[in-house]
Amino acid sequence: MSKKEPSESAPPPRRGIWHWLWRPPERWYLLGIPAGALLFFLVGIVFVVFVLRPQLTFTESQEFCTSCLEMDEPFNQLQQSPHWSNQFGIRATCADCHLPPTLGASLVAHFDARVDVWAHLTGRIDTPEKFAKNKLRMAEVVWKDLKNMDSVTCRKCHSFAAMALDQQSREAAKHHSPEYIAKTGKTCIDCHKGVAHTLPDAM
Ligand code: HEC
Ligand code: HEC
Ligand code: HEC
Repeated sequence: MSKKEPSESAPPPRRGIWHWLWRPPERWYLLGIPAGALLFFLVGIVFVVFVLRPQLTFTESQEFCTSCLEMDEPFNQLQQSPHWSNQFGIRATCADCHLPPTLGASLVAHFDARVDVWAHLTGRIDTPEKFAKNKLRMAEVVWKDLKNMDSVTCRKCHSFAAMALDQQSREAAKHHSPEYIAKTGKTCIDCHKGVAHTLPDAM
């Protein structure tokens, strides 16, 4: 036997994660993949925290929501309602009722608002007459959203559980009772429309 067994001459190459870490791949550029991913991740976080979040917070503000002339009317109506000023000193602003509280749903709502931005840019509701013509249609969108969300934005402030039924009118207490709600499956918006704005004429 003149030929040596290869296994005798060289120790078997050690493989595994430790080995790999100790001796990075020959092709150095491959390191760019994890490094790039990390950088991407960090830039993403910086973007969300310092750019997207403040931007969203700003677009959720009363100032932003009423910065278009189109929103003067709903704003004026809100200011006449008990949701703007009341004995308890609790105020509901546009986002309180119109923007769902959970992050996912609120992002969807922000995305949906592109329709409103488009309507603004194209002047779809920029006169009281045009607004009036579209009011029912717009209100129906809000009703549908609230219904689908089980009136979650109303329930940020109100809840059936917190209602002192014995202090409510008979009519209210009957409709808010757990049995009635369980039986009918109704949610706030089913019975309470027009709590911040006047109802559309066609109602
Ligand atoms: C930011 C908190 C807040 C949010 C959000 C809110 N409410 Fe209210 N709501 C109040 C307060 C405070 C009052 C008490 C005002 C008063 O009676 O003086 C009130 C009063 C009411 C009343 C009795 C007065 C009236 O206008 O008839 C109804 C009905 C009502 N809310 C329904 C709703 C519905 C429906 C929603 C969701 C579309 C909602 N609220 C969202 C705080 C809120
Ligand atoms: C099945 C219908 C129905 C549902 C659902 C309902 N309400 Fe009512 N609510 C009424 C009626 C009826 C009254 C009495 C109206 C009146 O007296 O003018 C009332 C009265 C109220 C009042 C005034 C209470 C008072 O004593 O003056 C508030 C506030 C209110 N509802 C909030 C809510 C909120 C918030 C929800 C959802 C969590 C809700 N309601 C769900 C029917 C309903
Ligand atoms: C207390 C809850 C509440 C607040 C606060 C609120 N809205 Fe609304 N909004 C509603 C509901 C409910 C509807 C659906 C129509 C209705 O029932 O009046 C609606 C409908 C609308 C519509 C559709 C057109 C119409 O008049 O129905 C617009 C636009 C609107 N809101 C804008 C605003 C703006 C802008 C603000 C802040 C200045 C605001 N809303 C504050 C509850 C609220």
